[in-house]
Amino acid sequence: NKELKVSPSIAAGNLMRLEDEVRKLEMSGADSIHFDVMDGHFVPLLTIGIPFIEQMRKITSMHLDVHIMVTNPDFSFENYLAAGADTLSFHIETSLHPHRICTKIKDAGKRAGIALNPATHWKDIEYLLPTLDQVTLMTVNPGFSRQAHIPSVHKKILELSKFRGENNLKFDIMIDGGVSHENANTLAKLGVDIVVAGGAVFNFEDYKEAIAKIKKASSS
Ligand code: DX5
Ligand code: ZN
Repeated sequence: NKELKVSPSIAAGNLMRLEDEVRKLEMSGADSIHFDVMDGHFVPLLTIGIPFIEQMRKITSMHLDVHIMVTNPDFSFENYLAAGADTLSFHIETSLHPHRICTKIKDAGKRAGIALNPATHWKDIEYLLPTLDQVTLMTVNPGFSRQAHIPSVHKKILELSKFRGENNLKFDIMIDGGVSHENANTLAKLGVDIVVAGGAVFNFEDYKEAIAKIKKASSS
C-alpha cells in the first residue's frame, strides 16, 4: 500500500493553546492541518471558525484543510477562502448550488472538496467529481471527535475509488471519523489517500509518534 497522508483535526487539540498545537504539528510529520468548523445548526456544537483560520494563516505555512459543517455554505464559503483556507470542503447535504461553489473555489486558486455524511450515496456527487480535488467520506456522523468508526461505509469507499480509477479521475479520497492505526491499513487498501485524525493524534503526548504509527500501519 501507498502510505496514507495524515491531517490532524486541530479542534480535537487544546483550544486554549492553539499556537502551541500548530507548532507541535509543524514538527510532527503531519501533511496538513484539518480545521473543523461547526455552526450549531448542521451539527450541535460551535467550534472555532473564520477568525481563527485568519489568525492561523498568519502564523503558519502549513496547508490548511478546512471542513465546514455548516448550513447555507453557498452564503458563507467565500469567507473561508479569504481567511486563508488551502482546501475547502463543504457538505453536499446542505448546499444549494454545489457546482457553483466548487467553480468559485477553483477560480480562487484553492482546492475544492465535498464531504458526504455516512448516509449519503456517492452517486449524489457523480457529476461533480471531475471538478473536485478531494472527496471526504465521513465514517462518523459529523459533530464530535473521538466517535466510533463506522465500517459499513467501507463499501462506499471502494465503489468511489473504483469509479475514480475507471474514469481516470484525479481527486483525493479523504476519510474523516474514527481513524486509527488499527484501521489505517484497511483504508489504504480501499484506495484512501488522506485520513483525518482527531483522537488518534491528540490523545497522545507525542504527535510525531502517533502520526508515524498511522502511516507505518497504512503502508505495511
Ligand atoms: C467530525 C470531525 C472530525 C473529527 C475527527 O465531526 O469532522 O474531523 O474531529 O475526530 P476523530 O478522528 O477523533 O474521529
Ligand atoms: Zn472534519
